[in-house]
Amino acid sequence: MRLLLLNVGPIATLASGDVNQPLTGQDMSDVDALCLPGGNGIYVESGIISKLDDSEGLSHEFGKQNTDSLTVIDCNGKAIIPGFVDSHTHLLWDGDRADEMTLRLSGLSYADIAAQGGGIQKTVNSTRLATMDRLIQLGGKRIARAAGLGTTTMECKSGYGLSVDSELKLLEACNRLAIESQIDIHSTWLGAHDVPKDATCDQYVESLISDQLPKVAEQGLAKYSDVFCEPGWFTLEQTEQIVQAAKEYNIPSRLHVDEFVDGNGLQLASDLGAVSGDHVGHSSSQARASAANTGTMQTFLPGTPYILGHDLELPLRECVENQWQFSLATDFNPNCRSLSIPFVGSLATHRLGLNPLEALVAVTRNPATTLISSSEGELAGSLREGGPADLLILDSNYIDSWCQMPGDNPISSTIKSGSIV
Ligand code: NIG
Ligand code: FE
Repeated sequence: MRLLLLNVGPIATLASGDVNQPLTGQDMSDVDALCLPGGNGIYVESGIISKLDDSEGLSHEFGKQNTDSLTVIDCNGKAIIPGFVDSHTHLLWDGDRADEMTLRLSGLSYADIAAQGGGIQKTVNSTRLATMDRLIQLGGKRIARAAGLGTTTMECKSGYGLSVDSELKLLEACNRLAIESQIDIHSTWLGAHDVPKDATCDQYVESLISDQLPKVAEQGLAKYSDVFCEPGWFTLEQTEQIVQAAKEYNIPSRLHVDEFVDGNGLQLASDLGAVSGDHVGHSSSQARASAANTGTMQTFLPGTPYILGHDLELPLRECVENQWQFSLATDFNPNCRSLSIPFVGSLATHRLGLNPLEALVAVTRNPATTLISSSEGELAGSLREGGPADLLILDSNYIDSWCQMPGDNPISSTIKSGSIV
């Protein structure tokens, strides 16, 4: 299977320096180092970018060969960017919580709604009843939508089971989807998303560590672990216990921290060497600096405060100015039902002061470094010879268009490992 893209417009390669490392500060907006002007072409063989060069030259070299196994696309000057890496999703759940919007407008908070049986618990009830086939069907449809919106790599959390059987069911569904689907899926065990009705928090943490985690680990179902570390859910001490227990099975963590208040969660994530601290809307500047030092990614999820009606006050510019590594992701979940990275890009640029190239780095190269290690092979998230052909043909001659169509789709074609999705 070979692919030849000709007459490509500008290309955001994002391939400066060591592509296994995230970009920070001014390096995130260095157009000369990160982008190529129009006129190039891309030749792909076996899912890998084999040649990135002048379009006419490539046309001459490959276009006249036996075309049986070669797909040729004339891009007509359209811009190309790397496929999106959505590093935080709650992909798998059943049910519907559309009623919570009106409850919020009547003055109830996220915690109030949870306390009266809505929120995570409501989704747990419906998800426990879902069969494996149903979960696969729901997940498959969601993955197809995300891929159409440009996502070529996705993280997928469990967390709506809260019992051994149902958490294993969710992770198994996730792993089956990873095999079946065209895009890459990386699974995260989020047994500590909430406390089930039939246990106290301490009892549940004990069973997470002594029962759930060992089974998840033995069956090799999760690449990462996660905890909803937030006052009212899991404490810093409980989070540490779970993270350390997972570490003993060689499962690194990515954590929900400081979503509603500064609970010192990002500091803990950094101290524990978590791959990423996610949400981090209320973390202190000190914790952010500490995360930058220990290599813990700050992953902002602007769709969630947007949907909850909270102020969008994420310090993205502060991160750029201080050269702190950060990413952006969707947080797709029953409360925040958007799988659209372009929409996240719109929030980051139209509302939070990033320029489109900085935001693009934060949804491609930077999150890729948290999901894939260089020992697993060539990293996605940037475009270069020898790297994976995960790329998006935009519906515009401008790279910057990728985040400027909120509510619409800026992607003309999604290409994963050299195949059109
Ligand atoms: O990341 N905050 C914790 N978990 C999800 C929301 C879960 C839910 O409301 O169902 C989040 O926003
Ligand atoms: Fe989340």
